Amino acid sequence: MPFCLLARATRVPVVLLAGLTFAASLAIASDEAANDAALELGKEVFLNVAAPPCGVCHVLADAEAAGTIAPSLDELQPTFDEVHQAMTSGPGAMPDYSASLSDEEIDAVAAYVSAVAGGN
Ligand code: HEC
Repeated sequence: MPFCLLARATRVPVVLLAGLTFAASLAIASDEAANDAALELGKEVFLNVAAPPCGVCHVLADAEAAGTIAPSLDELQPTFDEVHQAMTSGPGAMPDYSASLSDEEIDAVAAYVSAVAGGN
């Protein structure tokens, strides 16, 4: 009888732990899927939605962008915040995209450029 109780007492945490591990791996998988979707949207906006498109002025190998008016993003390797800041303030000759693109589109471009800049 004491053994039986012990077995029952240990089974609950084991099942709970297995369930939590499974839930955590599901959460990670869906995070990755969301991340992939954001990068895809970011590339699409970079190439086709932003007007004018970023590649008119900037180099970014991943997007086959070869503009030479502005600093190369592959060389600059900007962070998410730096891309976001540039897109919403329009430094120098760069347009301010805050009125023409949605927050989601701006976030997606910032995620995309900061992930791929560097020539990969
Ligand atoms: C009309 C040309 C033009 C277009 C289009 C353009 N940029 Fe720029 N961008 C510039 C110029 C010029 C600079 C340098 C500004 C300065 O510092 O004087 C710059 C700077 C930047 C920087 C660096 C900011 C920093 O912190 O130094 C980033 C990042 C950037 N652009 C990203 C983008 C993205 C992403 C897009 C598309 C949504 C884009 N640019 C579209 C001209 C452009």
